[in-house]
Amino acid sequence: MGARESLVQWDDSYSLGLEQIDDQHKVLFDIMNQLWSAIVRRAEGAEMQRILDELERYTVSHFSAEEAFMLSAGFAGVDEHRRQHAGFVERIRSARSDLRQGKEVSLELLHFLRDWLVQHIQAEDRAYAADYRKSRQVGGMLGRFFAQFRRA
Ligand code: FEO
Repeated sequence: MGARESLVQWDDSYSLGLEQIDDQHKVLFDIMNQLWSAIVRRAEGAEMQRILDELERYTVSHFSAEEAFMLSAGFAGVDEHRRQHAGFVERIRSARSDLRQGKEVSLELLHFLRDWLVQHIQAEDRAYAADYRKSRQVGGMLGRFFAQFRRA
């Protein structure tokens, strides 16, 4: 068996069926893989800092987009979902601050971030995606039902 080449690989079972969101999750996996690679080859602190900065920046941007989407779709669980997002961003910020103080980013932390994200996508993100799909089906059914009463 060859050396492991990445921390996390996209799997179709992670797909929510919402293309833009899936694409953003793929980017997050990609940045985590960059960080993993930097740790494994003992990259310089400046490179680690750059990747960690990017991980925070993109995570915040993804979470903001997702929260705006959930709000616009009227998803009931948005407050709890937001709380989970905030906790994850806090872990990344704390790693950045540790790195600035000369501490290394550990593989344990990276494994935690990966496991958290994969589980989050499969549970919480999947919940709002299912909710969204259901609301669209209901909207479609209502539309078809009321179409028969439309005036000619
Ligand atoms: Fe895609 Fe809730 O993070």
